Amino acid sequence: MPKTPTLTSRLPQVGTTIFSVMSALATQTGAVNLGQGFPDFDCDERLIDAVTKAMREGHNQYPPMPGVPALRQAMAAKMQALYGLPCDPDTDITVTAGATQAILTAILAVVHPGDEVIVLEPCYDSYVPNIELAGGKVVRVPLVPGSFRPDFDAIAAAITPRTRALIINSPHNPSGQVWSADDMRRLDELLAPTDVLLISDEVYEHMVFDGQAHQSAARYPGLAARAFIISSFGKTYHVTGWKVGTVVAPAPLTAEFRKVHQFNVFTVNTPMQHALAAYMADPAPYFQLAAFYQRKRDLFRDGLAQTRFRLLPGQGTYFQCVGIENLAVAERDLPEADFCQWLTREIGVAAIPLSAFYGNGFDQKVVRFCFAKKDETLKAALERLARL
Ligand SMILES: Cc1ncc(COP(=O)(O)O)c(C=O)c1O
Repeated sequence: MPKTPTLTSRLPQVGTTIFSVMSALATQTGAVNLGQGFPDFDCDERLIDAVTKAMREGHNQYPPMPGVPALRQAMAAKMQALYGLPCDPDTDITVTAGATQAILTAILAVVHPGDEVIVLEPCYDSYVPNIELAGGKVVRVPLVPGSFRPDFDAIAAAITPRTRALIINSPHNPSGQVWSADDMRRLDELLAPTDVLLISDEVYEHMVFDGQAHQSAARYPGLAARAFIISSFGKTYHVTGWKVGTVVAPAPLTAEFRKVHQFNVFTVNTPMQHALAAYMADPAPYFQLAAFYQRKRDLFRDGLAQTRFRLLPGQGTYFQCVGIENLAVAERDLPEADFCQWLTREIGVAAIPLSAFYGNGFDQKVVRFCFAKKDETLKAALERLARL
């Protein structure tokens, strides 16, 4: 018998992500899928037309390695207009295959074996395996339980001479928490005397509610000078399947980033980049996004307020977290992950357990719903959730 060699896994702790598991279960059981974070409605037709146009115009071969110039120029103009950050499209901006690749590439570019990288838990599930792949040491600092606010004393205590980078994410998945200007100033002060790099995951930058402004690291020169600022067109334009994002970083950081990028994906698909560049000429779609999602948040929260779920604050993103401890069913006492399985199978609504965002599986009886859904989908889910 031919024999496949046995491997020692580079990521022994990693299995299939909870998002894939819950989406598969939702499909299998016909549940309303409020688990994985993606819209169930389509993007603007004009964006699709722009892709077709780009393809017909012959933009079907490799673009330049850092990305189509028009898209990098559009991003530079946006960073200046929105956040006051001057950046050079030739040296400071790279187009990536979504934020996921951007984060991995940034980590591989700067983290040497043994370097420490601080993550603030709960955090997006790719950060930790990315650090491990680079041979880095993951240093976990919890956000304040309940409020999910940054604990600057704890972050300060975690910084050592071996700290290479800190990863932050505002607006925050999974909690929907948003960092304030004061938070960013405190971070700036904390990092100023250090050589710690900042990886600022800002994929939900246009989903900040109630009149607040997104506090991009780009607004703070001290932070911008040490930051990889990561965006995703998937979130902003309802095209998560396109997997196109960008990284903005000072020239010396971008140079290192591109060394890895060119031997990782090399380039990102060309027609989408042309289409996005053309579409970005009109800022209205991203300016209107907060109001668009705030209305959905309010619809969903108003419905949940009629149930026994405990509503957590939701200042940004398209996620709403809820406490399950007051539900009238015995399953409320299950671990979050088992509760989510039960909720999907028996009640017909898929959710994600917050414990999936912690290395130690910390269970606080909180689950996350995604409200990037048609109103009728949200109403169908609320009808089912009202039974609890
Ligand atoms: C916090 C966060 N970062 C990064 C990503 C990945 O974005 P992309 O689809 O552009 O790779 C997501 C997607 O859910 C996310 O929630």
